[in-house]
Amino acid sequence: MSSASRSTDVHSPRFRVRPPANWMNDPNGPLRWGGRYHLFYQHNPDAPIHANVHWGHASSPDLAHWEDHGIALRPTPGGPDEAGCWSGCVVDDDGVPTAVYSGIDHGHRGLSTICLAVAEDDGLRAWKQLPLPVVTGPPTGLDVTMFRDPFVFRFAGRRWALVGAGHTDGTPSVLVYDCEDLYAWRFAGVLLDGRDPVAARVLGTRAIGWECPQLWETTGGDWVLAVALWDGDPLSTACLTGRLINSADGELRFVTGSGGGPLDHGRDFYAPSVLQDTESGRALLWGWSWESRPSEEVDRAGWSGVLTAPRVVDTHGDGTLRVVPAPELELLRAAAPFTTAPGPHRPLPHAYDLLVTARSEATVTLLRTASGAELTVRLDPASGTVTLDRTAWPRSRPDGTAPLVLPVLPASPGEPLTVRILVDGSLLEVFAGDRAAATERVYRRDDDIAELAVSGTDVEVTGWELVPPNPV
Ligand code: FRU
Repeated sequence: MSSASRSTDVHSPRFRVRPPANWMNDPNGPLRWGGRYHLFYQHNPDAPIHANVHWGHASSPDLAHWEDHGIALRPTPGGPDEAGCWSGCVVDDDGVPTAVYSGIDHGHRGLSTICLAVAEDDGLRAWKQLPLPVVTGPPTGLDVTMFRDPFVFRFAGRRWALVGAGHTDGTPSVLVYDCEDLYAWRFAGVLLDGRDPVAARVLGTRAIGWECPQLWETTGGDWVLAVALWDGDPLSTACLTGRLINSADGELRFVTGSGGGPLDHGRDFYAPSVLQDTESGRALLWGWSWESRPSEEVDRAGWSGVLTAPRVVDTHGDGTLRVVPAPELELLRAAAPFTTAPGPHRPLPHAYDLLVTARSEATVTLLRTASGAELTVRLDPASGTVTLDRTAWPRSRPDGTAPLVLPVLPASPGEPLTVRILVDGSLLEVFAGDRAAATERVYRRDDDIAELAVSGTDVEVTGWELVPPNPV
C-alpha cells in the first residue's frame, strides 16, 4: 500500500504502530533504549497474510509518535528460523540489546527453537542473528506439542524466561527456564498449567495451548501472568494475579491468587506484549488487533493488523486488573477540543480521543448507518456497567457482534463513571474507568454517518481530534 492510500483509507489507523503495508501480528520485544521506546512486531513484508514471518521495528520518543524502521529480523535460509522469526522479547544483556525469539523451521508443527540476535547499533536497526539456537526444543518427558514465545524477566536476583506450551493431553502450560546466562538455559519446571483450579475457572478449559506468556510485577508487589488462549486458533487473552515461588531445587512456580479475568473484553485483541518499565515504575502493554473483515477485503486493502495504543497495567487492591491508556497519548490531542458538551450531532474525525463522564445513565453514539442503526457506548454508573453496542457492524469472525458489557464498580450516588474512547480508523478501544478495556474493529460503510450524539441528564463529553499522524 502506498503512503497516499494509507492516509486516505478510512479503515487504516494512522497513529498506532503498524507497518506501511502487508501483514502484522503480535507486538514483540518492547524495550526502552537510547532514550526511545522500541517496539517490534510479527511481520510478513510481502503479503497481507500470515506467512514468512519477520520482525518489523518501530520506535518512539514518547509512546505517542511512532516511526517505522522496516525489518529487524528475517528468516535465515537453512537456519533454525528458516521458516519464520516468531514471537519473543528483547532484553538488555549486560549492555547488549538481545532479541530472544522463536525460530521456526520448515517442519516445525508448532514447536520452535529459542534463538538469539544481538543488536549491532544503538538505534537497534541492524541485528546479527546467531546461527545456533540456545534451546533446541521443549524439555523431554512432558509430551509438549506446542512450544514458543520466550519472555524474559527478572525475579529474586536472577533472569528467567517463560515459554508458552501445550501438551499431548490438551493441557496448556507455561514452562520456565533459568537463563541468568542467556547463552546457557536450564529448564526450571512448569510455572503453571491449565489443571490449576483458579486457572481453569478464570481462563476456561477450551485452550490447548497458552501462547505469548507475559509476566509483570505490580506496584503492590503482586505478579500478573497474562496468556493468549489458543485452541488451534487464537481465542482471547486473560490474566491471573498471584505470587512467584522459587523452590529449593531451583524450580519456579506461579501460585494463583484471587484476581484475574480478561485482559481485554473485546473480540479483536490478542497476543499482548508487556514492558516492565523500571525507569517510570510501571508496566506498559500493547496487543495485536487483527482484522475482522473478509480476507478478500483484506487483500484489496493490502494490509492486515495493527497494535493497540499503549496501556498502563497494574492491579487494584483486590487483585483485579487496573488498565488505562498511557498518559502520553494525550500528546496526540489537538490543542482545542472539538466538543466539550452534549449538544447537536457533531461530525467525528478519522481519529479521536473522547472522554465521557456521567453521573447518571448516559449514551454516546459514534456512528450511524444510513438506515439509522447506531454504534453506542452506554454508561450506567449505578450498576457499574459500560455497554458497547456495535451490533449493526458485522465481523467476519465466529464470535459475532453481540453487545459487550464491561464491568466497573457501581458508583455511589453522585460519583461519576468515566469512559475513555480511542478511535483511529477502524480501531476502537474503550476503557471503562480504570477497570476494563475492550478492543474491537469497526469497518464503516461508505454511507455511514460518523457523528457524535450524547444523551443523558448529567454527562460531560470532551473530544479531541488526534494530530499529527505517524510519518509513513
Ligand atoms: C500468536 C502467535 C505466536 C507465534 C506467532 C507467530 O499470535 O501464534 O504464538 O509465535 O504468533 O507469528
